[in-house]
Amino acid sequence: MPRYLITSALPYINGIKHIGNLAGALLPADIYARFLRGEGEEVLFICATDDHGTPAEIGAKEEGLSTKDYCRLWHERQQEVYRRFGLSFDFFGETSAPQNHELTRHFYRKLAARGYIEEKVIEQVYSVEDGRFLPDRYIIGTCPQCGYEAALGDQCEKCTALLDPKDLIGPRSLLSGTADLEWRPTKHLFLKLDKLADEVRAWVDAHREEWPRLVSSIAYKWLAEGLKERCITRDLSWGVPVPLLEYEGKVFYVWFDAPIGYISATRQWSDLDPERRDWRRWWYAADDVRYVQFMAKDNVPFHTIFFPAMIIGTGEPWTKASYIKGFSWLTYYGGKFSTSRKRGIFLDQAISLFPADYWRYFLTAQAPEADDSDFTWELFASVVNRDLANNFGNYVQRTLKLTQKYFGLTVPGGGELGPAEQRLENDCRELCTEYRTHLRQLEYRKAAYALQRLWSRGNLYLEERAPWSLVKSDREAAASVLRTAINLIRLFAAAAAPIIPFTAETVFRHLHLSAEERTAIDATRINLNYLKPGHGFEIPPPLFRRIEAEEVERLTAAYAGDR
Ligand code: MF3
Ligand code: ZN
Repeated sequence: MPRYLITSALPYINGIKHIGNLAGALLPADIYARFLRGEGEEVLFICATDDHGTPAEIGAKEEGLSTKDYCRLWHERQQEVYRRFGLSFDFFGETSAPQNHELTRHFYRKLAARGYIEEKVIEQVYSVEDGRFLPDRYIIGTCPQCGYEAALGDQCEKCTALLDPKDLIGPRSLLSGTADLEWRPTKHLFLKLDKLADEVRAWVDAHREEWPRLVSSIAYKWLAEGLKERCITRDLSWGVPVPLLEYEGKVFYVWFDAPIGYISATRQWSDLDPERRDWRRWWYAADDVRYVQFMAKDNVPFHTIFFPAMIIGTGEPWTKASYIKGFSWLTYYGGKFSTSRKRGIFLDQAISLFPADYWRYFLTAQAPEADDSDFTWELFASVVNRDLANNFGNYVQRTLKLTQKYFGLTVPGGGELGPAEQRLENDCRELCTEYRTHLRQLEYRKAAYALQRLWSRGNLYLEERAPWSLVKSDREAAASVLRTAINLIRLFAAAAAPIIPFTAETVFRHLHLSAEERTAIDATRINLNYLKPGHGFEIPPPLFRRIEAEEVERLTAAYAGDR
């Protein structure tokens, strides 16, 4: 039996993320972790903030904070938002932690000792007035492609063209605004990916069949273009310092230390309780670990090529990904989410508008898996209304209120289970099996679809047996129908728990179910005759509210951005 190590791509420290980041990495990783725990598997779910790189330095400057304080502040804010969305990390670390500094230096030393690091002198932009070399993102100028005046040295925000600082028209320093820039020679370290290409390819080949097409096609595109050596140091003060004498003022490139953060965040977790936790058991010579990574597609090259190459280059048995779940983009009215242009919905806004489960369910049912998925408020409202309010929510309310009306607030006794109940139980077994299979295979849209069909089956049963009229002719029979229907609520909530954990909790509480009674959903253990006559319950407030047209209109206007 494998143990499951689960990581979600580490969100950049600067600012609260938008619902696209939730949909394409954090949420699916959480659902998988919750699902496997419910199945009785041993799971370790790790995430962290990606603290290094220029965005943190720039953000700190803008807020008038030291980079360290800036990171501490935003780490806490992010952690709080993720808690409100129910993300069940076993640990949420940070790449600026000492553990990550140490492990990053270890990786570097191993790679260097084995001949995979090369020093080269390159020309970099030096700002005389700022007294320092400027990273690409610290240089601002006019985009040669579209004429946008605030394009940065690595990319134009407006037209997304990838740039080199040399391309910018009228380049200036983002720090001081000076145009007094020169190209000066400076030493940097390069990772010789070319020398590792064969081994990386062999590793990718070994997973070709299993991985999603989105992921392997990106990996093969990179391999086909040929792996070139890649610069792994930057002229910055914020980061992991390069442990070499003549490298003062230089740190490792953020994409060098960030993936090592998966390991070092696990070490942070284990350092808090070293008697009972062992990070090496998950990361070093851990043959029985199945390691599943979650990320959006722009991260895939780093996880299929760059990070595995680093690991292979050390010659040490660090755990490599068994499975990589890549996601396409969640778009907002057909376009990109943009922080600077205030387009889209950020997590703090999202959670102030609707409870976490509305978002969790919607982003699962509409997961940007094979293709991009477009967010519109109309679609959000229709999915919430149809599946959550009208289907699941309504079923729970109807069943419990009818029971209360005719029998009071306890599971009613009497009557026999007949062929309708047998059919119901069989259908539930099948749908639960289908649902579990999809979750095991990380097919989120299909899983949500199976779940919704399971809920529908409950409503169908109520329609078919109509306890509200049955009660007039055969009170005992009506009691057995409602008893079955209440048992079904327990199953529905247990099945839904990985996706909508807050709602499942509310339901369990109102059904007076202890942790052990919250049940597994594998076919052999489905039992619609579990809750016995006399078991008390309460009526929960409506689980979901419908989102009406006027509200959709209001939200659409309020979150239009500058489009
Ligand atoms: N911070 C990166 C992003 O949001 C992801 C880093 S993933 C890691 O695109 F592997 F480097 F940790
Ligand atoms: Zn441009």
